[in-house]
Amino acid sequence: MSTNIVWHEASISKDERRKQNKHQSFILWFTGLSASGKSSVANAFARTLFERGNQAFVLDGDNVRHGLNKDLGFNEDDRKENIRRIGEVSKLFVESGQIVLTAFISPYRADRNLVRELVEENEFLEVYIKCSVEACEKRDPKGLYKKARNEEIKNFTGISAPYEEPENPEIVLDTEHYTIDECVEQLTNILTEKGLI
Ligand code: PPS
Repeated sequence: MSTNIVWHEASISKDERRKQNKHQSFILWFTGLSASGKSSVANAFARTLFERGNQAFVLDGDNVRHGLNKDLGFNEDDRKENIRRIGEVSKLFVESGQIVLTAFISPYRADRNLVRELVEENEFLEVYIKCSVEACEKRDPKGLYKKARNEEIKNFTGISAPYEEPENPEIVLDTEHYTIDECVEQLTNILTEKGLI
């Protein structure tokens, strides 16, 4: 625990940044099983936002675990710390006026709710990337489900570790029955209706 630290107010406020960007800043928290399509939808939607002139950035599980969180594994405590750090980083992005899209399995409801509580009420939207374990396992783009079945990977979400489905997500995108492009279109429509983009 750090001591003797003092909070400094920023010289440019979040609201000033939002005004300059001409849009709100908030977190789109994608959650779902491995291979459910979190990164694909998040990256495709980030491209849509970029082309509209919006400030958006994707934080992706695999990538963040190469750097900031490379000291963390996949037991319950490490996943909790993974999500806590990403929550704090996401809050900074919101302060900087950006739309941040996070693509982490984030299997525990309590961890996702902690992030929700870190920011203001309208700054966190949980986006459930819905796809059954069976369909994810069929896709298995990285061969991880196969390894998990052979017990070459322990604590694999959906096979040997839990995934707690969101109870009241703001948005549900069903990647089992809709294409990535269709999900991006649905997301664009929902956020436009909410007046967020
Ligand atoms: S978590 O649960 O939110 O902390 O996970 P996350 O940071 O999103 O990392 C998930 C990616 O790590 C790979 N991987 C595993 N996933 C789940 N369980 C285990 N045991 C595991 N080991 C490695 C996997 O590539 C995940 O990527 P995605 O994009 O979700 O498939």
